[in-house]
Amino acid sequence: MTADPLEIYLEAGDLERGLRDDVRAGLSAGQKWLPPKWFYDARGSELFEEITRLPEYYPTRAERAVLAERAPAIAALTRAKTLIELGSGSSEKTRLLLDAFARHGGLGTFVPLDVSVSALTSSTAQIAADYPRLRVRGIVGDFTRQLDRLPTGGRRLVAFLGGTIGNLLPAERSGFLTAMRGALEVGDWLLLGTDLVKDPAVIVPAYDDAAGVTAEFNRNVLRVINRELGADFDPEAFAHVARWDPAHEWIEMRLRATRSMRVRVLDLTVDFAAGEELRTEVSAKFRPAGIAQELATAGFTTAEFWTDPDGLFGVTLARAR
Ligand code: SAH
Ligand code: AVI
Repeated sequence: MTADPLEIYLEAGDLERGLRDDVRAGLSAGQKWLPPKWFYDARGSELFEEITRLPEYYPTRAERAVLAERAPAIAALTRAKTLIELGSGSSEKTRLLLDAFARHGGLGTFVPLDVSVSALTSSTAQIAADYPRLRVRGIVGDFTRQLDRLPTGGRRLVAFLGGTIGNLLPAERSGFLTAMRGALEVGDWLLLGTDLVKDPAVIVPAYDDAAGVTAEFNRNVLRVINRELGADFDPEAFAHVARWDPAHEWIEMRLRATRSMRVRVLDLTVDFAAGEELRTEVSAKFRPAGIAQELATAGFTTAEFWTDPDGLFGVTLARAR
């Protein structure tokens, strides 16, 4: 079967307006920052897929190990009719769930949602071809803003995998979980992937790989801003930085100006001192008790918490109460 045409919650104009607002706010701040969702144009989505295959980047392999073992239980426990996936990207690991649901029976619709049109276009086509009995409804949307518009009806399972929840700042994260609970009915399910706190000697190389793929992914946000807003960043003049913050238990990606620079973007003139850093992403790492607590506060009951055999990555199955 072919996938339904993509449903567009975010038009190109909305995306450009969002980028403009974020660039204006983030580059005018004392400590400059940009939100990570702008990494993911077609090239950014490809670079992320390359990251998932790097020897240093353990989260994808660890989460896949959990799903490979637990997907049958997830299908049996939830008996979902609709699987919604937020920040779905390639949905590559999600196939483990789709396979389990295919064996279990009952899942009728798969709804991947992502800001990246290119990632959705290829993932929906491939999944529709490989799972002909499934209706595939891809949505171009922003999971921080549009959860109130998710498809309703039937028992739903929302999957938010990869540890992407860790890319939200703490206030955004609690707002996200509350909005997620508000979008669900009592008895609907949430499957949440979270990277776990561990030795920074393991975490830092995952964000600063020897081949330099993560550095290219990081610089890609500057290329997106140059292309979409006509800015004149010199991406090569920014060095990739990955730094563990022990107080927040998150890793930050930053871009460090290797010389003083003046950048023109929109109607702004943005000056960088030599050595000044622009924060482009936080990636929070979690402790099991903290995850259960945040979910409980938002109105979810944790049904299961699983990790891979090495205890690197956690997957929680929670239910809206
Ligand atoms: N879930 C996949 C992909 C993770 S990469 C995995 O586990 O491998 C993060 C994905 O979230 C990207 O595809 C990116 O385009 C998407 N994304 C980031 N911010 C988003 C937002 N605010 N709304 C919707 N999608 C977003
Ligand atoms: C999508 N997200 C969970 C990734 C992460 O690990 O925080 C994005 C990423 N950033 C650098 N490498 C991968």
